[in-house]
Amino acid sequence: MTGGPDITRHYTVGSLLEKLDAALADDGADPARPGMDALAPYDQFHGRGIEATVDLADGLDIAPGDHVLDIGSGIGGPARYMAERFGCRVSGIDLTAEFCDVARVLTARLGMSDRVAITNGDALAMPFADAAFAGAYSMNVSMNIADKQAFYAEILRVLKPGGWLALSEAARGEGAEVDYPTPWALTAESSFLASPAETEAALARAGFADIQCRSDVEAYLAFGAKSRALVEKGGKPPHRAVFLIHGELAPEMAANTSRAIAADAIRPLEVRCRKPG
Ligand SMILES: C[S@@+](CC[C@H](N)C(=O)[O-])C[C@H]1O[C@@H](n2cnc3c(N)ncnc32)[C@H](O)[C@@H]1O
Repeated sequence: MTGGPDITRHYTVGSLLEKLDAALADDGADPARPGMDALAPYDQFHGRGIEATVDLADGLDIAPGDHVLDIGSGIGGPARYMAERFGCRVSGIDLTAEFCDVARVLTARLGMSDRVAITNGDALAMPFADAAFAGAYSMNVSMNIADKQAFYAEILRVLKPGGWLALSEAARGEGAEVDYPTPWALTAESSFLASPAETEAALARAGFADIQCRSDVEAYLAFGAKSRALVEKGGKPPHRAVFLIHGELAPEMAANTSRAIAADAIRPLEVRCRKPG
């Protein structure tokens, strides 16, 4: 079970495109032709924003023309980044209809609709054929998914033999409890954090091989310190997606997440693995 209505309620703004256009105009960008750099503070809805997307992409072996899947694609920033950097085609799927609508508008504004396609759907029952994709990635999505085993089995199904999977996750650390709200959940009852060991075991049970995990906590702490320093000097933080989407709750969500990472209650986790060939 995905908890679908709760998740979409949590993420739906109702006027996201209007808010985004106002934020872009305030930054001095043209909302009708924003460019990827102007969108990056808003369309990368995960810890460390575009920095984390670049890190995830750095280790990927994607050929031009490959068809890649983005699971939980949000408003499409990571999908457009991958398509632009590698010349690949990206299909994104996301449960939140408003995110999918905004993702399609932004993709069209960047002239990338021939390379990035967005489907509104559930990661646990994807409307894609078996062995459709050369590779798949997912950024900060699994904490919304209780049934990790079903999640990984469904991803394995749509990968070609030998296909790769890359995950950028908020995992459960060994520190104290997480305070809520966080950007992905208002309460502990709707947050499904798995530890790195549980993640690795679930992937192995699903049939993935060559599983490699790493955690770059220092990069997240440094990013948080850099953001706070900018704000203290009167500037905008480099990563503003949480503020755009969650409005008044965002400062508390961001503070809870930073504290949880510093206390190892949340451990940022990058995973790479492969479907056996
Ligand atoms: C924190 S956002 C990350 C969005 C995007 N990956 C990014 O990094 O910009 C989590 C996303 O996961 C999506 N999501 C949660 N559960 C899902 C499910 N079962 N199937 C598809 N998408 C899901 C939400 O709608 C939301 O867009």
